[in-house]
Amino acid sequence: MALVEIRNLAKVFPLGESIFGGGAKGEVRAVDDVSLEIEAGETLGLVGESGSGKSTLGRLALRLIEPTSGSIRFDGRDLLVASGSDMRRYRRDMQIIFQDPFGSLDPRFRVEDVIAEPLIVHEPMSRSMRRVRTTELLRAVGLDESAAQRFPHEFSGGQRQRIGIARALALKPKFIVADEPVSALDVSVGAQIVNLLAQLQREFGLTYLFISHSMPVVRYLATRIAVMYRGKIVEVGSTTEITEEPKHAYSRSLLEATPEIAV
Ligand SMILES: Nc1ncnc2c1ncn2[C@@H]1O[C@H](COP(=O)(O)OP(=O)(O)OP(=O)(O)O)[C@@H](O)[C@H]1O
Ligand SMILES: [Mg+2]
Repeated sequence: MALVEIRNLAKVFPLGESIFGGGAKGEVRAVDDVSLEIEAGETLGLVGESGSGKSTLGRLALRLIEPTSGSIRFDGRDLLVASGSDMRRYRRDMQIIFQDPFGSLDPRFRVEDVIAEPLIVHEPMSRSMRRVRTTELLRAVGLDESAAQRFPHEFSGGQRQRIGIARALALKPKFIVADEPVSALDVSVGAQIVNLLAQLQREFGLTYLFISHSMPVVRYLATRIAVMYRGKIVEVGSTTEITEEPKHAYSRSLLEATPEIAV
């Protein structure tokens, strides 16, 4: 049984009133009849051009937004019928890492508070136990424990992404959606983060949905690759199949657009 099973998933966003008058409204089929399985322990790379629906699909997979139709099973459970309290429980197992981990966070939070917040919400424990956990998490992502008392803005982009990863790991999740986690970073810093994600996967048995528009990054990390184009998965296969014998014209164009990099 796959860890994540997505069946005929769709998300339609209504468009606002037309600026040209006449009240004409349209809709965007951001995700259009997508079926996908993600096996426990694998990294499924999700590639596609800007606006193809990658982030929408990633958010749907975690039920951070509600689909228009279709179904999502996580670890054998139907996520869409889960009650609020069940969802709260399941959420511990499913986390997301963003391109900019601190875009939405209070800049007055210390790193310690940022990392410990999921623990405060989901796992009541003493302050001293929380400190111990936070230190472990910082070490796991390659940061010194002294980082705990500093503020996120004091760190470089790569270090901030490490803090974001530590936060995502706080509740020992099974499944992580990484939405363009290295797209804002220099190639060499991004490569270090990709290596860290690979190492954490081995250490903690994580399953990833790794979203990127960069084929070289995805090729390095992914077990399989799904290619998304205008809301649909046009091709899915092993990393070797997709990078050596892409069947869909769009997959080929993605490969041609991205030169090799050394990760
Ligand atoms: N909340 C929303 N309301 C309306 N339309 C949306 C919303 N979120 C996404 N869309 C639209 O859905 C489509 C898919 O967007 P999405 O962000 O999933 O693409 P993406 O592949 O992640 O792109 P990028 O590579 O730029 O991050 C786009 O046309 C986008 O404008
Ligand atoms: Mg996106």
